[in-house]
Amino acid sequence: MRQPIVAGNWKMNLGRAEQAVAFVRKIRHPLNEVQGVERVLCPPFTALPAVADALAGTRIGLGAQTMHWEEKGAHTGEIAPSMLEGLVQYVILGHSERRATGSSEESDEAINRKLRAALAHGLTPILCVGERLEQRQAGETELFVAGQVAVALAGLEAEQVARCVIAYEPIWAIGTGEAATPVEANRVIGLVIRGAVAEVFDETTAQQVRVQYGGSVNPENIADFMAMPEIDGALVGGASLKESFVDLVRRAAEARGG
Ligand code: PGA
Repeated sequence: MRQPIVAGNWKMNLGRAEQAVAFVRKIRHPLNEVQGVERVLCPPFTALPAVADALAGTRIGLGAQTMHWEEKGAHTGEIAPSMLEGLVQYVILGHSERRATGSSEESDEAINRKLRAALAHGLTPILCVGERLEQRQAGETELFVAGQVAVALAGLEAEQVARCVIAYEPIWAIGTGEAATPVEANRVIGLVIRGAVAEVFDETTAQQVRVQYGGSVNPENIADFMAMPEIDGALVGGASLKESFVDLVRRAAEARGG
C-alpha cells in the first residue's frame, strides 16, 4: 500500500521567516491532525530553519525546493545536500519552472546527479516531470515523460527508486487554473511513469514508487484526483499558500477513506 503524500510548494512566497512562521502557526495544528496522508511544506530556503522550529513536535514534513548535487565549492548562490541534511526530509528536484531556465544545472543528467546526492544524504526526492503544451498537442507526451523519468532515475538501485516520490506536472496545468482531467493524469501516471519505472527497473518497484499529480490542484478538485488508483497525492503550488490548504489535505485523506 502506497501512503498518499500531499506537498505544498510555496515557490518564491512567504520567504521571510516571520511571515512563514505566522502562516505555519495558523495551519500546523489542524494539518497535524489529518490521518493517513503524509503532509509536507516546502518554503523558500530563507524560511527553512524557522519553519523547521515551528513544525517541531508535529508529523508535518519539511522540504526544500531545489538543491545542487555537489558537496561544496564555487557554486555561487547554490545550496548543497549537506546543508539540507538534518534540516529537511524532502527536496523537490527538476521543477519545470527551474528546467525552463534552460540551465545546464537543470538538465535531465543534472537532475539525475541531484537525485543520487539527495538519496545519499537520506533526503526523499520529489522528482518533477511533465510535458509542455506543444508536446502534448504533437502527441509527444508519452515519449517525453517516459524519457524524463528514465534519465532522472538512471543508475539508481531499485530500492532507492522505491523511496522516491515522482510528481507528474503537465506544464500547461501549472498555475493556469486548467488542471489535467483526473482520468488523463491517472493514465499518464500509470501507463507512462510507472511503465517507464517498470521498464528500467521492475514491476514491483513501479508499484512501490509514489506518484503525485501537480498543476492547479485545489480543495475543490483534490478528491477527484485522489479517487484515481494510480495517483498517490498532489504537489500543490498556489493553493498551498492559503489556510484552506488544510481542507485540501483533509479531503485528500477522506477520499482515501482516512
Ligand atoms: P499550482 O503549481 O498548484 O500553482 O498550479 C503546482 C506546482 O508548480 O508545483
